[in-house]
Amino acid sequence: MTDDLRKTAQKEARPIPRRLVISVVCILCLCILGSTLFTFVTLSRFRTLYLSNRGHSIAEALESQTRGPGRRHNTAFWQSLLEDNYAVYSDSVAFLALIDQKGKILAGKGSNEIENLEYAGEGDAGIFIFEQSLSRSRNPRGEANPVVAGWRIRMGLYSSDADFIKRLAFSQLAVSALAILALIVLSIHLLRTLDRFIEMKAREGAEAQLKSIGTMAASLAHEIRNPLGTMKGLTQLAQEDLPPDDEAQARLRTVVGEAERLERLVTNLLDFARPKEPQICELDLNNLLSDVKTMVQPRLEAANVSLQILTDQHSLSIQSDPSGLRQVLLNVIFNAADASASGGKIVLESVRVEDGKSVVIRIDDSGPGLAGRDPDELFQPFVTTKSQGTGLGLAVSRQIMEGLGGELKLEDLPQGGARCTLRLPLNKA
Ligand SMILES: Nc1ncnc2c1ncn2[C@@H]1O[C@H](COP(=O)(O)OP(=O)(O)OP(=O)(O)O)[C@@H](O)[C@H]1O
Ligand SMILES: [Mg+2]
Repeated sequence: MTDDLRKTAQKEARPIPRRLVISVVCILCLCILGSTLFTFVTLSRFRTLYLSNRGHSIAEALESQTRGPGRRHNTAFWQSLLEDNYAVYSDSVAFLALIDQKGKILAGKGSNEIENLEYAGEGDAGIFIFEQSLSRSRNPRGEANPVVAGWRIRMGLYSSDADFIKRLAFSQLAVSALAILALIVLSIHLLRTLDRFIEMKAREGAEAQLKSIGTMAASLAHEIRNPLGTMKGLTQLAQEDLPPDDEAQARLRTVVGEAERLERLVTNLLDFARPKEPQICELDLNNLLSDVKTMVQPRLEAANVSLQILTDQHSLSIQSDPSGLRQVLLNVIFNAADASASGGKIVLESVRVEDGKSVVIRIDDSGPGLAGRDPDELFQPFVTTKSQGTGLGLAVSRQIMEGLGGELKLEDLPQGGARCTLRLPLNKA
């Protein structure tokens, strides 16, 4: 009962905040990811820039030492210059070389990578190749020196020198990954808390609603029951006073029928709004089933519907509430009888399920089935398709079953008709 009210309240409350939280988290994750990738790419570029700058300043330093007559185009001078500077920069430089326009080495010092690495950029061996053309020196008349045209300084720089930038980029990546992970964990936690909060609110709402229905039902029962009983009694007396073939008999029967329906409505409403505490005791399920059969027999006979009870053992002892269980069985058997046409058959089968912990009772009928109606909706209070129905039978029955630690289901049978399934723990405790 409270379950149905609670589910309705939850359905109404949940989607908006949930969707909002998920969207905000997704946007935040995308922003963090985007900014991290941008920083990573920028830092990678910065590393290349750093190494190029370093190469440029060494090349400038070398070239500045070639100023003076007879030095610039003198390869022997270049050789000794490169050897001296190699000793100075050996910490960060793998080789230094001077090459002509065809790439031929004119002077050089350092590892044999000089010849292998013919391109500028980072090589596989952790060496960044940097090349810079010699600036065009001019003679006093302003003419360019044709000998050094196309000569280039080539050097291999240890790229590990710029590894601190790489480390910075990776640590940035790791921090962002951690931030995204933390954000996801936090939002899952937030969503769970939100769910719990909504459920709690819905439960509070359902309980308040039930409380007011209970109060209303109690005062209705008080106000209606006695006058209704008097009206019904007096009508029955009038029925007895009149001859059976009197034309007023049909109208009086309608009055009695309606009075009985109102009585049932008040009783069901009270059962629904003020559920009784289950009185648990040891009972024999098969005995209870035959009691129920005796109780429903007159109504089934009047409707010309048969009831067959199938059990696979003589006695089945369970710990449960006999009166609650009886009420549920009466409700669902009457529903099956109402759905069956004259000559219809109801089969009640009880099976102890394999885990040895619960028993299942199935009530199958040969009626039209649920005719496309949603079973969950039929369990809602006051939903009925019968002119004389209160629509509380299934709602009260499910409430009783949940109170007994079991469950109640209604579904269509493949061959036609409906099946009502009660699942009950063998031991309520
Ligand atoms: N075995 C069944 N076959 C087909 N429809 C069913 C069956 N059992 C229940 N229903 C449908 O579910 C509705 C709700 O059932 P519920 O027992 O709650 O109320 P009711 O039977 O209409 O009224 P009341 O129980 O007060 O007589 C019924 O009106 C009926 O349409
Ligand atoms: Mg019913």
